Amino acid sequence: MPFRSSVAYLVLVFVSATHVASAQTFRPIRFLEKSKIFVLDAGSASYVFGINEQNALQHIYWGGHVARDEDFLAAHGSDEWASFDLGTTTTPQEYPGWGAGLYVEPSLKVSFPDGNRDLVLHYVAHQMEGETLTVTLKDIERELLVHLGYTVYPGTGLIRREAVVENRTGSPVVVENAQSGAVYVPRGDGYRLRYLSGRWAGEWQLNQEPVHTGVKVLESRRGSTSHQTNPWFALDRDGDSDPEHGNVWFGALGWSGSWRISVEGTPHQQVRVTGGFNPFDFAYSLAPGEKLQTPPFYLGYTGGGIGEASRILHRFVRAEILPRGSGKRTRPVLYNSWEATEFAVDEAGQIALAEKAAGLGVERFVMDDGWFGQRNTDHAGLGDWYVNPKKFPNGLGPLIRRVHELGMDFGIWVEPEMVNPDSDLYRKHPDWAMHFAGRPRTEARNQLLLNLAREDVREYVFHWLDDLVTKNDIAFLKWDYNRNFSEPGWPELPADQQKKIWVKFTQNLYDILDRLRAKHPTLEIESCSGGGGRVDLGILRRVEQVWPSDNTEAFDRLTIEQGFTYAYTPHIMMAWVTDVPNFNGRSAPLPFRFLVAMQGSLAIGSNLNKWPPENFGLARQMIGYYKSIRETVQNGDLYRLTDPSDGNFKASQYVSPDKSRSVVFAFLHSQQFGRMLPALALRGLDEQATYSVAIFDGKSRSNSPLPSRLSGAYLMHRGLELPLTGDYDATSVKLERVSD
Ligand code: DGJ
Repeated sequence: MPFRSSVAYLVLVFVSATHVASAQTFRPIRFLEKSKIFVLDAGSASYVFGINEQNALQHIYWGGHVARDEDFLAAHGSDEWASFDLGTTTTPQEYPGWGAGLYVEPSLKVSFPDGNRDLVLHYVAHQMEGETLTVTLKDIERELLVHLGYTVYPGTGLIRREAVVENRTGSPVVVENAQSGAVYVPRGDGYRLRYLSGRWAGEWQLNQEPVHTGVKVLESRRGSTSHQTNPWFALDRDGDSDPEHGNVWFGALGWSGSWRISVEGTPHQQVRVTGGFNPFDFAYSLAPGEKLQTPPFYLGYTGGGIGEASRILHRFVRAEILPRGSGKRTRPVLYNSWEATEFAVDEAGQIALAEKAAGLGVERFVMDDGWFGQRNTDHAGLGDWYVNPKKFPNGLGPLIRRVHELGMDFGIWVEPEMVNPDSDLYRKHPDWAMHFAGRPRTEARNQLLLNLAREDVREYVFHWLDDLVTKNDIAFLKWDYNRNFSEPGWPELPADQQKKIWVKFTQNLYDILDRLRAKHPTLEIESCSGGGGRVDLGILRRVEQVWPSDNTEAFDRLTIEQGFTYAYTPHIMMAWVTDVPNFNGRSAPLPFRFLVAMQGSLAIGSNLNKWPPENFGLARQMIGYYKSIRETVQNGDLYRLTDPSDGNFKASQYVSPDKSRSVVFAFLHSQQFGRMLPALALRGLDEQATYSVAIFDGKSRSNSPLPSRLSGAYLMHRGLELPLTGDYDATSVKLERVSD
């Protein structure tokens, strides 16, 4: 015995010593000199590429973690496969320039002033620093450089790619297409693509389809992220993956302007994905010495199915993207006035709403549209950001003071990038609106876009926002954006410079947000674009939360919420409880509406001045319950327990990272007589633990229909039988680990 235990001790010492040594020397990015290979070691994923014999950068591997670097062989460019498919096309290049017979999607296409448009990029240098790698490529003949950036996030296994194009040629160069890079999944057939599409009031619909030979283009040509398609994708092999198992490769762009992700199936069974600026109408003229940076492209891999792919993105956004560590806190329960009063806001009405909201337990009161200029309908006022003297004769002060007395902080709606032709601003500066000289200006919701790409417009917008927040005690801005680009002209610039508007507009939006936040370090912001038209990893670096959809009808919202969570965390997903009948003329009961809204960051958008007395008690209880679970909902792990195709019964579960707490939401649309609901098998719990089980749905019962304690194993294998009956029934179950 003494001998065996000392051997065990020696083994233990040896193991921990190696562990310490490897922990100290662990380098997430490695360059293998002999084989000229870069290994990006992102924890659960490996991403490998190398410099091939032609000096081009070539993809080698992206997938599950491979610890043994030597397993990867040097990159070897493909030979001519046929005179119609040259090696340039069949070699999986990391960042192919358009030139030398490239027929797949290029990462970069340029035009030189002498008419040359051939670009062949070869490796010249690299630099590694901790978790970042920069590889510099250069055209084989001209001083056109590309600095490829790679950042590894070992905590989540994500990799960030971007490119900086630098013109050192001494003459202007027009960049016609600039992507952040191309990525490849293992060669083979049978891939399935998931992506999110939609429309106003119907965003976040999940699509799943096979990848065939050809190019599937996901894009926005609208100047902003768009309701129609979101810059997120996921690939897996159909049949090789269920929600919680199997290989999934996924990615998202961090850009709030026009973007494109192309998913390309080549005739040689290679699926490649290219993401970056949308090349449509794109031409960025680079002066000598000038640089252009592409959007970041965040890329991830998991062997844990689409469920884990979503959770990785959720954790990543909370830990790495959201500003000022906001992903570690919880969101306050918010009230918003829009559906209650629309444009008819005034001091007395807003105070009356605030008093009722505070009584429910609301923590932040937000006054929406209608408080400024001559904004009585959506026909006028945008651009005139002074407080309307009729509605607020003493300014915003009395309302804000009352909101504070009631124990809430105050937020306000703004739409800084817009102007109504019926406004003092437009009358004074008609040239500030985006337009082509002498052409009609297309209005949408009676408004035009300001050309934010112009410096004077950018400064004007920054200064009035800064002034508003400096002069009033404002904790929160709801930043709206209610139309897309049309006539994207910039007539003040020479014709060959005007298309820069596609990039500069978004860069200036980011600049305003960054400066405003730096100057007001406690200010929080919501990104709204007529609902979910501007949700992406670029804007999320600058806002704490988003408005996913204008459609607040609870049953429609279930699909919207579920789709949203494929790409984005419930932490940022605002959800209001509103009045009925709502969209579709539907009237779901109040508990159903509350429980739907609790799946994200809860808010109230009802006209509390018109609520019947019985609503208040129920709402107080619901908000109290939400506060007891919000840490788990907002910062826990989400499991979608039902499939998007299941419209009648939907359920989701949130689990705290240490598995000690969990909450389940379940919704029945309409009961069919005699048809039983399935037992709901939970996920992500500790099988060995015992949990207290508490049902909550606003119904008063003398006995709980569920046992008061159950083991993790029972909950996950046998599952819960939930007491849902009739139409629009909803329930929630709170689980807490207890000692048996
Ligand atoms: C669109 C937003 O999505 C709504 O919530 C509301 O703020 C209106 N704009 C106000 O005009």
